[in-house]
Amino acid sequence: ISAEKQGYKHFMLKEIFEQPARIIDTLRGRVSVERGEVNLPELGLDEASVQAIDKLVFVACGTSYFAAQVGRYMIEQHARIPVEVELASEFRYRDPIVSNNTVVIGVSQSGETADTLAALREARALGARTLCICNVIESTIARESDGVLYTHAGPEIGVASTKAFTTQLAAMGMLAICLGQLRGALGEEQARELIEALRQVPAEMEVMLRDMAPYETIARQFSRSHSFLYLGRGNQFPIAAEGALKLKEISYIHAEGYAAGEMKHGPIALIDKQLPVVVLCPRNRVYEKTASNLEEVRARGGRIIAIGNQDDSRLEAFADVVIGLPEVPEFVQPLISVVAVQLIAYHIADFKGTDVDQPRNLAKSVTVE
Ligand code: G6P
Repeated sequence: ISAEKQGYKHFMLKEIFEQPARIIDTLRGRVSVERGEVNLPELGLDEASVQAIDKLVFVACGTSYFAAQVGRYMIEQHARIPVEVELASEFRYRDPIVSNNTVVIGVSQSGETADTLAALREARALGARTLCICNVIESTIARESDGVLYTHAGPEIGVASTKAFTTQLAAMGMLAICLGQLRGALGEEQARELIEALRQVPAEMEVMLRDMAPYETIARQFSRSHSFLYLGRGNQFPIAAEGALKLKEISYIHAEGYAAGEMKHGPIALIDKQLPVVVLCPRNRVYEKTASNLEEVRARGGRIIAIGNQDDSRLEAFADVVIGLPEVPEFVQPLISVVAVQLIAYHIADFKGTDVDQPRNLAKSVTVE
């Protein structure tokens, strides 16, 4: 019964629209703006143990891997702890260097992904402390970890992950603030601002979800394209990668997510009048640089879909289509901009008529290595 589509054409669309509510569920009881505090007692962290951490290593697969990459930006910036992000399937083959002061964190919606489970078991055998960010209560990864931070996305039916990703980002945000406070890297006032930013995300997402017109335009204009390039810089780079993954998964169109600054070292050779380029460029510390990458694409005749602030007239001048984002602090920009790339993939797939919720060859949870 909980699995009903509630009037939406696909589970994926229902789950995209559910995101504001599930983020509220994930933040509930854990953050207090008044006290400027994030409380995550389930992780068993205290000042002494956090001061002693030499590094954090995230291990994850698929969409969860990109959530971990966003987490790295949040934690390094606000907690000043070194963070590595490793594909779970590669972790073991690198002879990973971990110590008793290393914390290895699995990120997994299902809590059953074989590669992530194997990486965590390896980490534990090497003496690391293991934690996880997980959506399914009492899943194997949750049971085997020393501490679990549950996301409250609820059951996710669509194979392409959406609300699991944004609730993972909310969890990453809370973790960054909590670690920053315990590490002594984050003052109370700063913590309060970051908490407030997280708390505002659901309302800003609702604004995003009001207007489907740009996505319908994109679907009509670009569904016949054979390939897409997604570009982003800073904390938008993982969102570019996630956007490309979503498009591949459900529309079967080839797509690459690239760091905007790396474009000149390869992908720029692909740009012609046929190639749609999705650029994530909300106003932030890397805005100017990303905007100039956009101008390079334009100069070579590429077709541009720009995802940036709604009042950004510079984008209007360069892009074929602009998706306007509400103005939010840089810390939470990935939670907002990802909704745009989810909807681009969804509308293109729906226009093409693919099986959005059950795309070919993919499984919701992969329990083989
Ligand atoms: C599969 C799913 C993806 C998911 C990945 C990792 O490939 O199709 O949507 O991101 O597994 O799953 P997990 O449950 O560990 O987050």
